[in-house]
Amino acid sequence: MARFYITTPIYYVNDAPHVGHAYSTVNADALARWHRLIGDDTKFLTGTDEHGQKVADAAAHNSMSPREWTDVTSQRFREAWAALDIRYDDFIRTTEPRHYETVQKFLTAVHDNGYIYKDTYQGLYCVSCEDYYTLESSDEGRCPIHGRVLTEMREENWFFRLSAFEDRLLALYETHPQFVTPETKRNEALAFIKGGLRDISITRTSISWGVPVPWDPDHVFYVWYDALINYLTAVGYGREDDETSTWWPHSHHLIGKEILRFHCVWWPAMCMAAGLEPVSHVQVHGWLLVGGQKLSKTMAAEGGVKLTDIAPVMLTDEFGVDAVRYYLLRETSLGNDGDFSHEGITARYNTDLANNLGNLVARVTTIVASKCDGRGPAPEVDSELRDAAQTAIIDTALAWNRFAPSFALEATWGLIGATNAYLERRAPWKMSPGEELDAVMGNALEAIRLVAILASPAMPAVSANIWWRIGLEGTPSDEEFAQSATWGRYRGAGLIEKGQPLFPRIKAVVE
Ligand code: ME8
Ligand code: MG
Repeated sequence: MARFYITTPIYYVNDAPHVGHAYSTVNADALARWHRLIGDDTKFLTGTDEHGQKVADAAAHNSMSPREWTDVTSQRFREAWAALDIRYDDFIRTTEPRHYETVQKFLTAVHDNGYIYKDTYQGLYCVSCEDYYTLESSDEGRCPIHGRVLTEMREENWFFRLSAFEDRLLALYETHPQFVTPETKRNEALAFIKGGLRDISITRTSISWGVPVPWDPDHVFYVWYDALINYLTAVGYGREDDETSTWWPHSHHLIGKEILRFHCVWWPAMCMAAGLEPVSHVQVHGWLLVGGQKLSKTMAAEGGVKLTDIAPVMLTDEFGVDAVRYYLLRETSLGNDGDFSHEGITARYNTDLANNLGNLVARVTTIVASKCDGRGPAPEVDSELRDAAQTAIIDTALAWNRFAPSFALEATWGLIGATNAYLERRAPWKMSPGEELDAVMGNALEAIRLVAILASPAMPAVSANIWWRIGLEGTPSDEEFAQSATWGRYRGAGLIEKGQPLFPRIKAVVE
């Protein structure tokens, strides 16, 4: 059996979850659901990143201890994911004892292997990024992303010898051309490595909110240094329940493009330093932009785009869970930046969901209810729709397999379009009950059944609902894809339920 381990970034708990976080999490969830559907042994990890200066500052600002604060804010992420029908297998918090244990084991190995040494760090730091800058990489002493004046830091710290890994990283990129996708992002990471690597300061004495350094208890680890290791904590690295060898060669990190360097340069080097094979694949995605600006909690706090205006649950309340999932997956191809707008989601809803999918299901169930005694007829062995279905099945599968949800949905919607066109041509509403009508309706029902399967990773609840409407038991993902996603499995005779409209039309807001 194939294995598939997928992760999202773990989100900082300095503020509430927003639609940008939802973008990553929904994509990872749909990919995980796809792999479960095709029968892969699948593990989907998400969670919260709870250490670091930024989180400690947020706690202080809210007059809470960091621990109290992270308990509250981490829970908000769980709630957001529940509202979006996210089915993770594990939710990690970096404040859990299991994480401390794995981090300490991992970094002790790196230390023992001679890649950690003590020196004085002097430089610039952005708390919003939780990242270092040099004068040259800064915007005249300000953070190039957040615009704030950078903090000057001078501390005696432990350093990771990143510079020792240049050649090994280049070899990794050479021998694993798919290590980072899309290729533009791979090239960016590669260019960074070729530009020369500096050692990184990985501990702090100025704050105490972090994982203690086992060999030097005055220090805690720098937040990024503990955070990356979460992916190994969840597979039990260095602990009694160690399943690293089960999951690690099949691991995929889905990340936003701003954290490319950490995942595509630091992280593989850290793994090599610990004597571990690096993660097998990093899939980078772009940013959702509102009016061309990235949604960032920090910018919102500083008076820019108000992110709390776009909390995931506000969207699901307005459009329904699966419509929001569909929009996030379909609108932007993974890897590119995308625009998030109310008009955009309304348009997708009305066109792809209400007009195409919703109408198809409504017109087919209506005709079957009135002209076929409410029982779904069986499809023909050979039908012009069969070819369209086969193309959709193959293209949808290929796209999910190459981490391209928007193309997968486009291929699935190709079958919806073909089925609507088929109905227009055959005009069953003009036919009298009988064999010809039964054949047309059976073919349409079979196409709908296949659409429900193909769309289920993106829209689990709607797909299950359609399944029920066409008289089938269970859900579209109960049976393994290889068996169920073939033309002719709809046997007919199921009781058809017309039900309420799947996607009642939404009026576009006129400003
Ligand atoms: O960086 N568009 O956490 P974070 C798309 N804790 N995705 C977006 C987005 C947007 N506008 N805004 C945020 C951190 N994201 C670290 C990660 S991992 C070991 C540690 C998503 O709370 C995107 O996935 O800043 C991005 O990478 C992530 O949220 C950053 O979340
Ligand atoms: Mg961020």
